[in-house]
Amino acid sequence: MEIRKVGIIGAGQMGTGIAHVCAVAGYDVLLNDVSEDVLKNALATINGNMARLVRKGKLDEETRKSALERIRPVADLSAMAECDIVIESATEDEDIKRAIFAELCPHLPPATLIGTNTSSLSITRLAAATDRPEKFMGVHFMNPAPLMELVELIRGIATDDSTFETFKAFVTSLGKTIAVAEDFPAFIVNRILLPMINEAIYTLYEGVGTVEAIDTAMKLGAHHPMGPLELADFIGLDTCLSVMQVLYEGLADSKYRPCPLLVKYVEAGWLGRKTKRGFYDYRGEKPVPTR
Ligand SMILES: NC(=O)c1ccc[n+]([C@@H]2O[C@H](COP(=O)([O-])OP(=O)(O)OC[C@H]3O[C@@H](n4cnc5c(N)ncnc54)[C@H](O)[C@@H]3O)[C@@H](O)[C@H]2O)c1
Repeated sequence: MEIRKVGIIGAGQMGTGIAHVCAVAGYDVLLNDVSEDVLKNALATINGNMARLVRKGKLDEETRKSALERIRPVADLSAMAECDIVIESATEDEDIKRAIFAELCPHLPPATLIGTNTSSLSITRLAAATDRPEKFMGVHFMNPAPLMELVELIRGIATDDSTFETFKAFVTSLGKTIAVAEDFPAFIVNRILLPMINEAIYTLYEGVGTVEAIDTAMKLGAHHPMGPLELADFIGLDTCLSVMQVLYEGLADSKYRPCPLLVKYVEAGWLGRKTKRGFYDYRGEKPVPTR
């Protein structure tokens, strides 16, 4: 199946990154979110990110221009009827994703494939909320999508071989490397990464170390490019919490219990970089720890 046009639903940090990657690879992109304002900001973000890559010599100016022209913001899901593939990358909330699929599916031609960028939710369950479980699978990009090399591919119980092969060829054409994961809560990367981040938050909660001590310890002591708390802010604390909840409930093991401090930050609306406050405060010139 030939892919020319890609629809992306959700224009947050991941949706903008996936749109960027697809447009640079030469695909036409339709980008949807809840309002014109969000879409306007999303396009400005993509423009800014591409301009930064041009300044760093990682993207040429011609490609930036043509890629930007290939991204069309659409306020209505009916526009997705033109797409060969639609990738859902909205908020990590099963009810939101289900409502999107219910609205989306009636507009799509029967051959259109649907992927979800969920970090943790069951692909089989999400597939069952569509009218085409055999044409549905998990396509899990890493953050930031334009820079990270990996995409996890996850089949649901009903995903057919041609859907898998088409997604595999599509993701490869984006210049990404694939890791195939089974449909278990949080797949591979987040099954390993998020409990580590949650443990770092427990370490802070129990007073074992300060925010700075914990991040410095893991950067210099384990050679992680980012400390776990800095990384949590980067991922988004709401996303971190929902992945931990999915692990906790999905695997029924108390070792995945989300740290109460993570819950508190999310309840406060301190979601990390995207709201300018999380384990660090990003409102000033330099990030300052909030504890
Ligand atoms: N943040 C990460 O590091 C990361 C990495 C890989 C995958 N993911 C996954 O990607 C998805 C998006 O995460 P994100 O970090 O971009 O979150 P985000 O909060 O930055 O963006 C989510 C976007 O979805 C939009 N949205 C909500 N309801 C919608 C609807 N009904 N229709 C259209 N758009 C809607 C929101 O307005 C928002 O712009 C989630 O499933 C998340 O688990 C996140």
